Amino acid sequence: MHPWIADRTTTFDSSGIRKVFDLAAKLKDPVNLSIGQPDFDVPEAVQDAAIEAIRGGKNAYSPTQGIAPLREALRQEIAEKYPHEDRDVFISSGTSGGLMLSILTMVNPGDEVIFLDPFFVMYPALLKMCGGVPVAVDSYPDFRLDVNKIAAAITPRTKMILLNSPANPTGVTASEAELKAVAELAAEKNIALLSDEIYSRFFYDGEFASPASYNDQTIVIDGFSKSHAMTGWRVGYVHGPSEIIRTMLKIQQYTFVCAPQPAQWGALRAMEVNLGGHIEDYKRKRDMVFDALSDCYEIAKPGGAFYMFPKAPIDSGAKFVEQAIERGLLIIPGNIFSSRDSHFRISFAASDEQLKRGVDILRSMAGGSV
Ligand SMILES: Cc1ncc(COP(=O)(O)O)c(C=O)c1O
Repeated sequence: MHPWIADRTTTFDSSGIRKVFDLAAKLKDPVNLSIGQPDFDVPEAVQDAAIEAIRGGKNAYSPTQGIAPLREALRQEIAEKYPHEDRDVFISSGTSGGLMLSILTMVNPGDEVIFLDPFFVMYPALLKMCGGVPVAVDSYPDFRLDVNKIAAAITPRTKMILLNSPANPTGVTASEAELKAVAELAAEKNIALLSDEIYSRFFYDGEFASPASYNDQTIVIDGFSKSHAMTGWRVGYVHGPSEIIRTMLKIQQYTFVCAPQPAQWGALRAMEVNLGGHIEDYKRKRDMVFDALSDCYEIAKPGGAFYMFPKAPIDSGAKFVEQAIERGLLIIPGNIFSSRDSHFRISFAASDEQLKRGVDILRSMAGGSV
């Protein structure tokens, strides 16, 4: 290792996902069901707003907390949903920026943070970078949020419970009862509750539920990356108790500085865009892929996001993914998101034609005898 590289960088690695992309780079016309972003484009009105902002000279730093009209629009929307006395909001540099600031603000070295396994890849990496201790609670085979398992993982060092519903990589959504139970447990034990709600708009069965409805100290992270296909624009937001938000802003000031200003004007316009058509379309894609695979793969039906997490028909998800890639199908091995190597992730944020080709390949591999 190069002598200049700091120890904190050695506690996690990114080799798993790189291996998949290296294998994929060799493919000519792959069926790509690996992508973690919508297949529709940024709504035109949002593009126009950002272009107008750039042409109108709104290119400088914005206030650290974000442009006032966006912050105000979000504040109103949040206050309607959660009429808490002490809830403030700021604009972060993507949801990832909000996650990083949340962890830097609340997690001391040695503090334990509980989240479900499978998990979004950034969680353990960010925690280790900050000296936190990831405590991944196994949620196989149904990936439900079980308050008893969370309670059993709590120790005197537990600082935070990190929730993600709808979840990446499983697409599973927590029920109101499950969220309420965990929200009340966190309140009772005085443990910070951080809710990553980046997929909140992609919710197919019923109404989206947040633990913030049951615990007024919940810190919520959301953003425009997935809902409006703005992953490259880097606009997210965080809301929670005002002192915690103020402390995050102190760190944002000396790190990210602000979210890109033209993108924030785009996000303001995005709040007026009706996403109904896209969500309906993704629900249809969810049904199409689930119906085509559920008779030959073990899959927990996703209630949200745009992922499914089927069990591989052979003893290794990673091996199965290598075999799928040999057949021209790009998917992600489950062990990137988990301590287990038994599943794989499909993204159904793809064209119907790609999904049909992907489903055909997966059906042909379902017996495990590839
Ligand atoms: C669960 C989860 N949280 C956060 C993010 C990061 O989102 P952003 O692009 O807004 O940083 C992702 C992106 O894949 C995600 O899946």
